Amino acid sequence: MPRKLAAGNWKMNGLRADLTQLETLAARHSDASVDILICPPATLISQCKDLLFDIGGQDCHTLMAGAHTGDISAKMLADAGASHVITGHSERRMDHGETDAIVAAKSQAAHAAGLVAVICIGETRDQREAGTTLDVIDSQLAGSVPDGAGAYNTVIAYEPVWAIGTGKVPTLDQIRQVHGHIRARMRARFDDAAEMRILYGGSVKASNAADIFAVPDVDGALVGGASLTADDFSPIITALEAS
Ligand code: PGA
Repeated sequence: MPRKLAAGNWKMNGLRADLTQLETLAARHSDASVDILICPPATLISQCKDLLFDIGGQDCHTLMAGAHTGDISAKMLADAGASHVITGHSERRMDHGETDAIVAAKSQAAHAAGLVAVICIGETRDQREAGTTLDVIDSQLAGSVPDGAGAYNTVIAYEPVWAIGTGKVPTLDQIRQVHGHIRARMRARFDDAAEMRILYGGSVKASNAADIFAVPDVDGALVGGASLTADDFSPIITALEAS
């Protein structure tokens, strides 16, 4: 069984004053039995690196350096103190037109810089209603997870687009089905797929975390809104430890 992972994605939220939330969280979970990853905005990464958590970026470029105004490379994230980077979040796929090929290239860049890529996939509401969820998952996995991925450098996050920030969550059976499917697909490609963490993301909160964490092949969560304060994120970490 892989070691569980509680990951927080702060998105475009967080000023220096909010670092007190992380200090509080660190004090409460100094002896955590699960891994804790915080992905703050890039402006805060270097100030987070002394906390006991793993720190991640939220995106990286496909290249390590060059004339790409406003972008950030995997090497820069590593240099600032990050050990992870989220790639292919649905907000990047939608807001910035990121294709599976781009996500794969970004994940490869992450690996080349020594970062763990947290590769996000998930179906839209229309795709769920059309009954094509597993097809979408298949093509996103095939297109976004590069060769050379393994449990040591890759985490998969299943995030149904319609569940992100909406308060809507799939049924536990739907989560079980997709996570089992992802595990099987990864087993077919990678020898150490049993150890690869598969996170659920989308409206995870204290009240539903324990149920979600009891689902087979759920190795943790990628949490957005409920990772912004210590009071919201702490019970999710505790639920993961108890699972
Ligand atoms: P949410 O976001 O927890 O606010 O739904 C999850 C995510 O987008 O990673």
